[in-house]
Amino acid sequence: MRLNDISWEDFETLSLEQKRPYLEREEGDGLPYHTLFAQQFDRSLLERLCALANRIRFINKSREGALYLKSVLAHKRAMLYFSQPSSRTFLSHLAACQILGVTTGSVRDAATSSEFKGESKEDSIRTFSSYFDMIIMRSPEQGLAEKMAWELSNSSRSIPIINAGSGKDQHPTQALLDIYTLVRSFENTGGLDGRTVVFCGDLLRGRTVRSLSYLLTRYEGVKQIFVAPKELQVPQDVISMLEECSVDFEVSTNLKDAVKKSDAVYMTRIQDEWDSSKGASAKIDTSMFKFGAEELALLKEDGCLLHPLPRRDEIATCCDRDPRAMYWRQMRNGMWIRAALIAATFGLEREIMGCGY
Ligand code: CP
Repeated sequence: MRLNDISWEDFETLSLEQKRPYLEREEGDGLPYHTLFAQQFDRSLLERLCALANRIRFINKSREGALYLKSVLAHKRAMLYFSQPSSRTFLSHLAACQILGVTTGSVRDAATSSEFKGESKEDSIRTFSSYFDMIIMRSPEQGLAEKMAWELSNSSRSIPIINAGSGKDQHPTQALLDIYTLVRSFENTGGLDGRTVVFCGDLLRGRTVRSLSYLLTRYEGVKQIFVAPKELQVPQDVISMLEECSVDFEVSTNLKDAVKKSDAVYMTRIQDEWDSSKGASAKIDTSMFKFGAEELALLKEDGCLLHPLPRRDEIATCCDRDPRAMYWRQMRNGMWIRAALIAATFGLEREIMGCGY
């Protein structure tokens, strides 16, 4: 099944699970061609990508290995089209491309492209596809990456799209790096299955939460606890998804109680850029949804503290040097898992896994 086998109108009506086969590589290896949402990744695919990320980070340790990696995609070019602010997602994709030898171009502000002259986003992306072999895109517009994947797959120049964050909806590569971090955090203590993960903060508008919550359902018996002020609690679509997957979950307003039960805590910032009226978020009392020394004292010895970053004050800086604070490593893990995803998208999984380095 390919995206050029189906009309946009029919594709739009499919569930995310039904859309998945349309987004896979033609070669039938189950790997993604377009990466648009978390629902594309099952357990086996997550394990393959984590293994590939581990392999790439190991190969990159030696000069010879790093030079080999820089040769594998030296014939490819990627466009980083970020029409929303970003530090980590932009830079880690850029660094991932550099590790694999992919040459890059970028637009980080639509005002510097011909969108400023009235060109549509659709035409802009079609233009990028003329010059590049992959588009990595972040957009405030939910569904734009999906629509563009369909448009390009039905054009004379089909190239893969990686969704680097779409509206309040999805951030699939962030969820991949979160899973990679959790898997690595628990690799010597029994694995991720059966763990309890607490999400805290702005769960209503945090696209990382939606994507990660979904990927956690791919692991056996992972309980999810959502801690937030009632105005920012996890949305109904995530709840319905968890119910459909028969996942054990709780909705709570008590962070300390949740931390006591947790193996991992995933803090998020208040996403006030989405406020419908200026200053609306500032009226919500978020004082009970911050992680500091008292919460750290309640976290298990082998627990871990994550944050997609950027943070404001929801994790106190006194936590930063604790070995359970994973957010800096999490950020670096993003570079390795994104390198793995780009390599896999271009069909290099077997070659890299089997190379002699
Ligand atoms: N986590 C994340 O998406 O960070 P940036 O907005 O800095 O890319």
